[in-house]
Amino acid sequence: MDKLAIEGGHRLEGEVAISGAKNAALPILAACLLTPDPLELHNVPDLRDVSTMLELLARMGVRVERMGDRVRLEARQIEQALAPYELVKTMRASILVLGPLLARVGEARVSLPGGCAIGARPVDQHIKGLQAMGAEIALEHGDIHARVSRLRGAKLVTDMVTVTGTGNLMMAAVLADGMTVIENAAREPEIVDLASCLNAMGARINGAGTDIIRVEGVARLHAASHRIMPDRIETGTYLCAVAVTGGQARLTGTSAAYLDAVVDKLLDAGCEIIPERNAIMITAPPRLRAVSVRTAPYPAFPTDMQAQFMALNCVAEGTAVIRETIFENRFLHAVELSRMGANLRVDGNTAIVIGSAELQGARVMATDLRASASLVVAGLAATGETLIDRIYHLDRGYEGLETKLCALGARVRRVRG
Ligand code: EPZ
Repeated sequence: MDKLAIEGGHRLEGEVAISGAKNAALPILAACLLTPDPLELHNVPDLRDVSTMLELLARMGVRVERMGDRVRLEARQIEQALAPYELVKTMRASILVLGPLLARVGEARVSLPGGCAIGARPVDQHIKGLQAMGAEIALEHGDIHARVSRLRGAKLVTDMVTVTGTGNLMMAAVLADGMTVIENAAREPEIVDLASCLNAMGARINGAGTDIIRVEGVARLHAASHRIMPDRIETGTYLCAVAVTGGQARLTGTSAAYLDAVVDKLLDAGCEIIPERNAIMITAPPRLRAVSVRTAPYPAFPTDMQAQFMALNCVAEGTAVIRETIFENRFLHAVELSRMGANLRVDGNTAIVIGSAELQGARVMATDLRASASLVVAGLAATGETLIDRIYHLDRGYEGLETKLCALGARVRRVRG
C-alpha cells in the first residue's frame, strides 16, 4: 500500500488550482442514467471515487468517454440496472444510481452500502422516500431490490438532513408522474449544482439550496452539458494546509462563496483571507489562535472540514472544543494526531484540543478520507518526517495531492508499495 512521506516545517506559498467537487460530480455522473441522450461534463475531478462511478455506469451499459477533466456519458439503453457489491463496498455513493435507475427503467438492484469508518450511514431515508413515490423495495441477500411501473410525485419529509438522500430523491422525482416536494432537504451547494445540471437536461426543479425542493415531473430529459462546481472541501483543506505552515497562497478555480463558515473560522484563527472572483487568497499569521467548531448541515460548519480543523487546533495557541454532530464516529484521526504529540481528549462527540507549539513527525495511519487530510495538514506543520499509511483513502477525494502540495513548496513524496 502506498504511503505519503511529508517533511514538515516548510511554509506553503504560491498558487494552487482547485479541482471539481467530488460530492457534486458523483450524483451528476449518476444523472446520465435519466436520459438516452448524451451528457457532457467539464471540470470532473480525476479521483478514485469518480473512476469507480464511471466503472459502475459502464457496467450498466453507459458509453463513457473521458478526456482529461471532460467526461461524455451516453446511457442510450440500460443493459443491466445493477450496482454490484464489489463496487458499492468501495464507494457508498453508488447508492446514487438507485433513484435514476428507478426513474428511467423502473427497476434496480443496488447492493446495500455497508457502514464505513465514520459511522453506520444507513440509507433508510432514501428507501422511505422512494417507497412514498410508489416503489416496492425488498432487501434480498444484501441487495436493495426496487421496482415500480412509474414513480409518482409525493410529499416527502426526511427525518434528518441527508445530502445523498436529497440528491437521490430529487433525481427520482424528475421523471415521476406529478409534483414531488422534498421537505427538510439538504441545502448543500452540491445539491444546487445537481439541480442546475438536471434543469439543463430539461427537469423542472425549484428551491434547490433551500430546505424545500419542488420537482415537477416531466416525460423525458435531453442532452445537456454542465461544468462541475469547484470542490469547497478541497479548498478548505488547502486553506488549512497554508494556515498551519504560516504561509501565503492563492487558490484558483474556486470561490469563498460556499465556505462562509470555514472562512469565518480561519479569520478568527488570525488568517487574512481575500476572496476574489474565481480564487481565494490566504495569508496566515506566524501562530494561529485556537478556534472551536461545531459541525452541522450547510450553511453551518461542514463535517468534512472537522478533521482538518482538529489538526489546525493542535498547533494553534489556546484550547478548542470540537463538536461533531453529523457522524457518530468521526474522530478516528484524534488518536493518530496524539501519536504526533497532539494534546487532545475525546469524549463522545466532543474533542478538546489544547494547542501546542509543536507536533513531531511520526508514522501514522489513514482511516478515512478526511482523517487522512487531517494527517497531511498535521504532517506539514510537524517537525521532522511524517509517514502516512493507507493513503488510498486520500486518493478517493484529493486529485494530485502531492503534486499540488509540492508546487506550494511542501516536501511530500509518495512511497510506493
Ligand atoms: C454526504 O454523505 C457526503 N458524501 C459526505 O462526504 C458528507 O460528510 C455528508 O454528506 C454530510 O455532509 C457525498 O456527498 C458523496 P448524509 P451522505 O446522508 O449523503 C444519517 C466526504 O468526506 N442518515 O448527509 O452519505 C447519516 O448516518 C464524504 O466527502 C441516515 O440516518 O451523508 C448521517 O448521520 C464523507 N439515514 C446523517 O444522516 C439516511 O438514509 C447525514 O448523512 C441517510 C443519512
